This record gives sequence, structure tokens and C-alpha cells, in this order.
Amino acid sequence: MSRSQRAQHMLLLVSFFALALTGFALKYPESWLAGLLGWSEAVRHLGHRIAATVLLAVGGFHLWYMARSGEGRQLVRDFLPTWQDLQDVRDTMRYSLNRSSKPPRYGRFSYAEKLEYWSLLWGTLLMGATGLVLWFPVLIAKVLPRWWLDIAAALHFYEAILAVLAIFVWHFYFVIFDPDVYPLNWSFWDGKVTEHYLHTHHARMHDAAPAPPSEALPAAEDVTHHTEETTAGR
Ligand code: HEM
Repeated sequence: MSRSQRAQHMLLLVSFFALALTGFALKYPESWLAGLLGWSEAVRHLGHRIAATVLLAVGGFHLWYMARSGEGRQLVRDFLPTWQDLQDVRDTMRYSLNRSSKPPRYGRFSYAEKLEYWSLLWGTLLMGATGLVLWFPVLIAKVLPRWWLDIAAALHFYEAILAVLAIFVWHFYFVIFDPDVYPLNWSFWDGKVTEHYLHTHHARMHDAAPAPPSEALPAAEDVTHHTEETTAGR
């Protein structure tokens, strides 16, 4: 991950957890969660809005980055679904069900990572839109019927549950609990993955990457690759 991608990910991480904590504490003020935090209603209120402003700002920047920077445009191209993804789904199923001894060979992003990215983008747009409706109810009620507010509140709440589950169950499996990366995939911090990870999880990209200089290759497991470098080499 490049420096810009890591900065965007870090702001997303911090604002998302702040929103989830303050949001559920707002919804369940009598819960252990709200008690644990020990915040007053006013702090939860303000905290949710400050974190929402950060998320909306980083989301807006991300859209600009995807449209205008070369690195961002490359990222969009690499995230677009292709026919190869369908073949990868088939290969993954065959391998998981023991119908094939050949593990699936993904490119820069696997079909699961692509799905996760587009779900995140869509989910953030939905949370942002419904959250702004809840933030400015009087303004919205001037232009839309009252039931739009009820729908926005329901969507905001159920999408919040879905988003938290997606992060804790899905994302955390891939970046923490997967035995290949446990205790943590550090790429969000230093932008690098191990040679072993690249080879096992992104084999097609690994094969396309330029070989590192031979003197830098004492032990395959220790060698790290800049994903930026490998992308540039494709
Ligand atoms: C940019 C995005 C967001 C905006 C603008 C936003 C805004 C809001 C607003 C204005 C409220 C009403 C708060 C109050 O009563 O004081 C609210 C409630 C809530 N938000 Fe958000 N929010 C956003 C993102 C999120 C995210 C990412 C989560 C969780 C993952 C979340 C979870 C919640 C929950 C659980 C509630 C309580 C819902 C209810 O009372 O039924 N929000 N949000």
C-alpha cells in the first residue's frame, strides 16, 4: 500500500470504530457499552458527528483520488470484476472441496477482496446519505415526506450492524486470524507483504513481478516486496 492509501485506511479505521462505538452507545444508552465508555449523551452526540465528518472527508478524498490520480485510477482498474474472477471462484470451490490439488491463483486482488472493496464503498455512501438525513431532519422534512426519515433511520441502523459484522467476521479473518498472516498483516502500516504471502495469496501477481536482486534474497520467507513496485512492474 502506498503512503496515501495507508493514510486513507488509517483515517477510515479510526473514524469507523469511533462511529460504531458512539452510534451503538447512542442507540443503547443503558447498555454496558455506553456505561463502559462513561460518556455523556452530549459527548456521544458530538463524537458521532465529528467522526462522521472525518469519514465523509476521507470518503470524498478517496473519490477524488480514484478519479484524478494515476495510482487511484490503476486501483479502480485492478478492482473491476473480470471473467477471471468467476474462474477463480470456481477454482477456489474445487480446491476447498478437495476436487482439485491446485490452489487458486489470484492477481493483485482476489474476487473476495474486490467484493469487500465495493461493499465498503457502497456501504459508506449509504451510511453517509442516511446519516446526513438523520443529522438534518428539519431541512429534509421540508423537501421529502416524513417517512423518508424513518426509512433512513432503519437503513442506518441495519447497515451499521452489517458493517460491524463485515469488519469483525470477514475483514478480521483475512487480516488477523488467517494462519498465513496471524497475528497481523502489517501492510496497512508499512505497505509491504512478505514474499511468501505474495506467492500464496496473489500468485499471478507474484509471477508477473520483477525478481528482486539476487543479493537481496538470503531467505525467501524474510524478503518483503513493495506492492507499489510490483504493480509498477506489471
Ligand atoms: C458518515 C457517516 C455517518 C453519518 C453522517 C452519521 C450520522 C448519524 C446521526 C446524525 C445519527 C443520529 C445520532 C443522534 O441521535 O444523535 C446517527 C445514529 C447512528 N449511527 Fe451514524 N452516521 C454515520 C456513520 C455511521 C457508522 C459507520 C456507524 C456504525 C458502523 C453508525 C452507527 C450509528 C448508529 C448505531 C446510530 C443509532 C441509530 C438509531 O438510533 O437507530 N453511523 N448517525
